[in-house]
Amino acid sequence: MKFDQSLYVLLGEADGVRRLVEAFYPKVQRDPLIGPLFPEDINPVMEKQYMFLSQFFGGPALFSEAYGHPMMRARHMGFEITDEKADAWLACMNEALKELEIEDELRVFVVDRLSGPAHHFVNTH
Ligand code: HEM
Repeated sequence: MKFDQSLYVLLGEADGVRRLVEAFYPKVQRDPLIGPLFPEDINPVMEKQYMFLSQFFGGPALFSEAYGHPMMRARHMGFEITDEKADAWLACMNEALKELEIEDELRVFVVDRLSGPAHHFVNTH
């Protein structure tokens, strides 16, 4: 680990993860490639993502406590996810981190940590 605290702490704990999710989804919704995959009412998705990212970044296991094992790849199987869509998702996350003025080194590290899962969810070529 490059940083000596969890990403959860470095990103500002519950408030920081909340702000990140709130900066991220408007970008996702505006994205021509992935926006159309999401429901009009984005609030339930934002709440689940807040819970998931909290635990993914090393904070409280909110998602697992509420929904059981994440099985995130399986949860994405209903959507056609291509490499281009994974890149679009990551680009929205990168822009959200920039909007929150997260320092460059941490931003690059966070996007890199999410890049593995994002490309692992690719199920369509
Ligand atoms: C690779 C590109 C990705 C695309 C196109 C994508 C798209 C989607 C879509 C369409 C949904 C369902 C929204 C709904 O409820 O109707 C969803 C749910 C979700 N995604 Fe993604 N996603 C991607 C990557 C990721 C990544 C990298 C993560 C986290 C590391 C993630 C975490 C979640 C979570 C936590 C949910 C809610 C799951 C649930 O309903 O239980 N997604 N995603």
